[in-house]
Amino acid sequence: MLIIKDISNLKSYLTAYQNRKYSIGFVPTMGALHKGHGELIKKSKNDNHKTIVSIFVNEKQFNSKEDFNSYPRNKGLDYEFCSNNDVDLLFEPSAEEIYNNDGTILKNVNFKNILCDKFRKGHFDGVITVLDKFFTIIKSNKVYFGEKDYQQLKIIEKFILKKYKSLQLVSVPTKRSEEGIAYSSRNEKLSKKQLQDFVSFHQKVENFLKSLEKTFDIEIANQKAKDFIVEQDIEELDYFEFRNNDDLSFNGKVSESRLFYAIYKGKIRLIDNLKI
Ligand code: PAF
Repeated sequence: MLIIKDISNLKSYLTAYQNRKYSIGFVPTMGALHKGHGELIKKSKNDNHKTIVSIFVNEKQFNSKEDFNSYPRNKGLDYEFCSNNDVDLLFEPSAEEIYNNDGTILKNVNFKNILCDKFRKGHFDGVITVLDKFFTIIKSNKVYFGEKDYQQLKIIEKFILKKYKSLQLVSVPTKRSEEGIAYSSRNEKLSKKQLQDFVSFHQKVENFLKSLEKTFDIEIANQKAKDFIVEQDIEELDYFEFRNNDDLSFNGKVSESRLFYAIYKGKIRLIDNLKI
């Protein structure tokens, strides 16, 4: 596996790939790789001749310096993970290399002021800003994102449709542990007790979902969601609500929706979304 840190070196490999007419799959990440990323890599390897993974903890998408500084980083393990998953090329640029003193921040205009965008102001601006850099440099045929960050996926879908029409976005279902929680880099920061509490919360949520009739309107399901969540022992909660799969509105039947939640365990923010 190749590990490349600078754009000029990367470009020579990309030119060689393109000259050979290889299709390229790109998996952007912020490192602390886990089985969820493994699924994205697996899918890309299946679809393309070459798979490129980037590792870049993008400061522009963090709401606080503290959150950025404490984001899990485990370089050595990530290298091993990528190599074990047969990644062809790992691109690990510095912030200087990616931004090159360009302070421009792109503004996301889709799915605004709801879910994570409401509670993490500017977060998605940072996400599309960095992806814009990566997409321009890498020019892959396909790019892979997980459904766990569903709002991010929808926002990127719109962004790609507008600016990178020939790039194909591939979404990959959320990979879950045996207990049902989604793999996430932030899970690493949970203490044993916090993890147990989170698993038990998640299992209650799954049972709550099973108790709902598929014919309910999203509006009715949201009243039930409110009743359910006040009964739970949650330290802090950003949202717990059903929204339509397509437009993230409150319109439609619960069968065409997902239940979205963002809760805190201590300082650790955990998000997920579940289909009924
Ligand atoms: O989902 C992530 O890990 C990040 O938001 C992404 C897409 C790699 C952009 O930094």
